[in-house]
Amino acid sequence: MISHELNDLITRIGPGTPAGAVLRRYWQPAALSDELAGERPVVPVTLLGEKLVLFRDDEGQLGLIQRHCPHRGADLCYGRLEDNGLRCPFHGWHFNRDGQCVEQPGEPEGSRMHEQIKARAYPVAERNGIVWAYMGPGEPPAFPNFDCFRAPESHVFAFKGLWECNWLQALEVGIDPAHASFLHRFLQDENPDEQYGKQFRDRAADTNIPITQVLRDYPRPEISVEDTAYGLKLTALRHMDGGLTHVRVTNQIFPVAISIPMSREMIITQWHVPIDDENCYWYAMFTSFDKPVDKDLMRAQRLQEHTLPDYAPRKNRANNYGYDPKEQGTQTYTGMGMDINVHDQWAVESLGRIQDRTDEHLGKTDIGIIRYRRMLRAAIKALQDGDEAALPMLGATNVAAIQGPLSNDAVTDTTDWQSASQSADARRRAACPWDATV
Ligand code: FES
Ligand SMILES: [Fe+2]
Repeated sequence: MISHELNDLITRIGPGTPAGAVLRRYWQPAALSDELAGERPVVPVTLLGEKLVLFRDDEGQLGLIQRHCPHRGADLCYGRLEDNGLRCPFHGWHFNRDGQCVEQPGEPEGSRMHEQIKARAYPVAERNGIVWAYMGPGEPPAFPNFDCFRAPESHVFAFKGLWECNWLQALEVGIDPAHASFLHRFLQDENPDEQYGKQFRDRAADTNIPITQVLRDYPRPEISVEDTAYGLKLTALRHMDGGLTHVRVTNQIFPVAISIPMSREMIITQWHVPIDDENCYWYAMFTSFDKPVDKDLMRAQRLQEHTLPDYAPRKNRANNYGYDPKEQGTQTYTGMGMDINVHDQWAVESLGRIQDRTDEHLGKTDIGIIRYRRMLRAAIKALQDGDEAALPMLGATNVAAIQGPLSNDAVTDTTDWQSASQSADARRRAACPWDATV
């Protein structure tokens, strides 16, 4: 339970807000590369409450500038894509990809007014299917050497989806290992061999037990949280019959991402980036340590559940998320189908646009959430004190040396969960066709 003031402090991210200042110190996903693949590579982007337009210019370079023309505010998403930038259709002012106004064709001959006009512009970078933006002051930080960035393009698939709620509650479902035993419970197990590209459908580690069964049969995980250079490492133990323990390691990557196992072959690194205070996108990078990712299949699976161009889920608040009480009685815990994304979406959206945390009661299994909020508050305080170097992965840290993070499921008959998890990870990395050594 926290105060209204604190809830506002840790959820609101518009320009000038303390949490917004923290998020702006990191690269944030702005669009999928897929969105720029059409004939006209210009897309509206709303990020951290700021309306922007992203485009690829004639030289193949990306630009991200303010959406409303600095002249009289026309929408530059309708701009003429010319040379190295966008030309406003209202009076023809031309902006290059850095936002500089380079021409005002209607102003008197010889006018140099354009030299003084600059649209807000942010640095962008493209990595494995996602266009990233840096909206903070100074030079952008380096990218960490996470698996999703190290792996070749063939082994990473990126997708996104809209959730109509504040980013923090979206992130908090990802650092809550207990919910998977309930929210994602399937009352019957499917054949794990037919579940490519889906989460929580594989076998548990080297066993023949479907992960759905582990989650269902052992609903009281023992959760521990460690501080790391990138954020938090969460370990969830499920003590099973026969002296076995299921060890699941997931991570919070500061400030808005998580890294979790998806199957024995793949992990998911997922950012919960704010569109504004009341909406967010999840951007996921599915990284394979084995075969190249079947992107066509994974895209088709996800496009069945989403509509373009907004990547809005077909199941949503307006249609009760497809809720079917009969299904809830016999097949799933939620009655909302087999796609676990829909379960998570319901869980986070049903808390309201911005969860009122003055009314919550956190339990022992919410330790990841408690630790994350503490970390966010410390980062807010550090920035207010002018100590940017105290933020995770900034300052003196050699960000490019940060690898992993280890995200996996292991089953062990010992009490040394740590080594069981590490050796499972080491085996996967050793067999990986790209250089995944850490
Ligand atoms: S509003 Fe854009 S050029 Fe006038
Ligand atoms: Fe979930």
